[in-house]
Amino acid sequence: MANRFILNETSYHGSGAINEIPTEVKARGFQKAMVCSDPDLIKFGVTKKVTDLLDEAGLEYVIYSDIKANPTIENVQKGVKALQDAKADYIIAIGGGSSMDTAKGIGIIDRNPEFADVRSLEGVADTKNPCTPILAVPTTAGTAAEVTINYVITDAQKDRKMVCVDPHDLPIVAFVDPDMMSSMPKGLTAATGMDALTHAIEGYITAGAWEMSDMFHIKAIELIAKHLRGAVENTPEGREGMALGQYIAGMGFSNVGLGIVHSMAHPLGALYDTPHGVANAIILPTVMEYNAPATGTKYKDIAEAMGVDTTGMSQEEYRKAAIDAVKKLSQDVGIPTDLKDIVKTEDLDFLSESAYADACRPGNPRETSVAEIKELYQSLL
Ligand SMILES: NC(=O)c1ccc[n+]([C@@H]2O[C@H](COP(=O)([O-])OP(=O)(O)OC[C@H]3O[C@@H](n4cnc5c(N)ncnc54)[C@H](O)[C@@H]3O)[C@@H](O)[C@H]2O)c1
Ligand SMILES: [Fe+2]
Repeated sequence: MANRFILNETSYHGSGAINEIPTEVKARGFQKAMVCSDPDLIKFGVTKKVTDLLDEAGLEYVIYSDIKANPTIENVQKGVKALQDAKADYIIAIGGGSSMDTAKGIGIIDRNPEFADVRSLEGVADTKNPCTPILAVPTTAGTAAEVTINYVITDAQKDRKMVCVDPHDLPIVAFVDPDMMSSMPKGLTAATGMDALTHAIEGYITAGAWEMSDMFHIKAIELIAKHLRGAVENTPEGREGMALGQYIAGMGFSNVGLGIVHSMAHPLGALYDTPHGVANAIILPTVMEYNAPATGTKYKDIAEAMGVDTTGMSQEEYRKAAIDAVKKLSQDVGIPTDLKDIVKTEDLDFLSESAYADACRPGNPRETSVAEIKELYQSLL
């Protein structure tokens, strides 16, 4: 079978990337934007960095901010109405995964109204039309939603996160500007950065990985291992390295899939509103140990990309070295080591079943089961 690869049509990288927005808008002949951005970003003036540019250029827009972290079906449906009421012909998504994913859901339904219930979009949906054009401006260095064909929406009634996979949702232009990320507090920088590392590691060992995705993932691991500590300290090099590292991870995993770290993290976001990156970071080393037998020599590459000299190491030693390097990074940036303060034991069956049903699970390199996933959760309590 042929391997498919999908990336943004255009992307801008580096400090000042957002200054290209008005030029792109004018060149594409767009008339009126709906800016999708969550309430905190508006409050802290992050969204304003972009809307100031629109104002200066005389470009018309409305703002939609009914978006919560781990966004819901309702956030998307209200957004569709807001977009259509405003008669906006494109979307500027400014934010982390939550704002960008909401924008994707809105844009998909605007152009494919038969999916207005949102639930029918879970998994791979048979949409006919590309979404309303989206220009994406990430403000976290984590999800890479600006370059992925995925979006994640929470079904609050069923306490489930729905992973939606659809090439029609891909933003046409991404503006990956580290200056948009510099206002992130330490904890958020750490959590979102560990989400990016999880994408790179799960993407590197996922069932569908191949030479081209490997190339992106190994570079992403190297950049994230080198720059996450600096980003947490808010150094310009750290921010720049993480902006790039998380994007490159997205170029890879969007095209090949992930694994059960994400499958196990999603129910925690749905049930307890656990920040996505925190959930992934806590689970990652445990699942790396579980998956090790199904990864051939790949942990050697991961250990080396994380700065470990693996010369002379046995397979057991380099596998342990890769896992230890991940644990050390996680600890250095202040991530908790277990799920004790998050998971309630009475929820374990629901969490394990939900993780097994998650769209990322089939990508896991090792065959798994509801019972084994439950054991993995239990080992973290
Ligand atoms: N589409 C994908 O491919 C993909 C991949 C992974 C995760 N996700 C989803 O993305 C969501 C998580 O996104 P996220 O981790 O980027 O966080 P987020 O978008 O949920 O934002 C978390 C909080 O951080 C704040 N914030 C964001 N940027 C900031 C900045 N620069 N300064 C100050 N505060 C800032 C936000 O206002 C919000 O309160 C989850 O729903 C997750 O499931 C999507
Ligand atoms: Fe993620």
